[in-house]
Amino acid sequence: MSKKRVFSGIRPTGEIHIGNYFGALRNWVEIQDSYDCIYGVVDYHAITTPFEAEKLPRLTFDTLAALLACGIDPQKSALMLQSDIKEHVELSWVLSCIAPLGQMERMTQFKDKSQQAPEYINLGLLAYPALMAADILIYRADAVPVGEDQVQHLELTRDLARKFNNAYGEYFPEPEPLLTHTPRIMGLDGKSKMSKTLDNHISLFEPADSLRQKIMTAVTDENRKRRSDPGNPDICNIYSLHKTVSKEEEIQMIDRECRTAGIGCVDCKKILYGHMEEFLCPFREKYQDLQKQPDTVYEIAQESRKICQPIAQETMTEVRNRMGLRKI
Ligand code: AMP
Ligand code: TRP
Repeated sequence: MSKKRVFSGIRPTGEIHIGNYFGALRNWVEIQDSYDCIYGVVDYHAITTPFEAEKLPRLTFDTLAALLACGIDPQKSALMLQSDIKEHVELSWVLSCIAPLGQMERMTQFKDKSQQAPEYINLGLLAYPALMAADILIYRADAVPVGEDQVQHLELTRDLARKFNNAYGEYFPEPEPLLTHTPRIMGLDGKSKMSKTLDNHISLFEPADSLRQKIMTAVTDENRKRRSDPGNPDICNIYSLHKTVSKEEEIQMIDRECRTAGIGCVDCKKILYGHMEEFLCPFREKYQDLQKQPDTVYEIAQESRKICQPIAQETMTEVRNRMGLRKI
């Protein structure tokens, strides 16, 4: 039996951070043998929020390199650039004509991003989830590895697939989200989600000294004022980060010792730093290596385009035919 297909994308809007990795990319890497995977740097999504045209090519390249550095293997998976394959945008128009306006206006991310940049509320920002649905449905993907913040967009994707199928005959699968065991990583402030555009993230390629500094100054359980106070790991972001890189016995030890004031925040952070540095070090080296080989990176995207385009064209031909966009 042929493998099920996966699609997922990431926007080239800034440094890839450990929230991206532990919330989503870790799954991208792990499922490469069990699914037929297509991954994309979705640059058309990057222009829905404020961006600088001169900086976009560098961000796009860096995002491609980052995905390769953290383990996307071009021998196993396609790694494409969204703007190389025009059918994404074509299908997004079709889906925009199916998507109920009210449902689009209710999307949490639309509301959040409108608030973050009130001067930049454009039609594309509202239509963004339809483009995301198109990214997925153009490859008729069955599953989508994402962080928790994208689950609502996937529900919309399933709704749109169902609406299309009901109106024009069964064609699209209804894609399911694949979540990691840490689907929402908080920022260093412990209050908002870790984000590329907020100054609250740890880069996936953070140099050792600033990694140490960021961990040592990160917010913990704010009710724990003194070393002798017992802490509450359930509300401590450092404890949640331990769950990403520390071994199970150690996580249990920290939980126990924090609650009884057996371990202080400084020691807890030092342990986290040690594991995080060990985990990230190989990524950093591979990333620096890829920075010296732009041709190799672009060639991977070009080769992937050759794999993806025929699938996308086949989908669009079928969609156009079913919707009457054809000769009599
Ligand atoms: P983005 O950077 O918004 O394009 O996100 C790329 C992927 O990382 C998506 O699957 C997001 O759901 C995921 N992601 C982004 N930020 C976080 C976070 N703080 N925690 C967990 N997953 C995240
Ligand atoms: N909207 C996603 C995000 O903000 C990025 C994205 C665009 C995506 N197209 C996609 C994710 C398709 C999964 C599948 O993170």
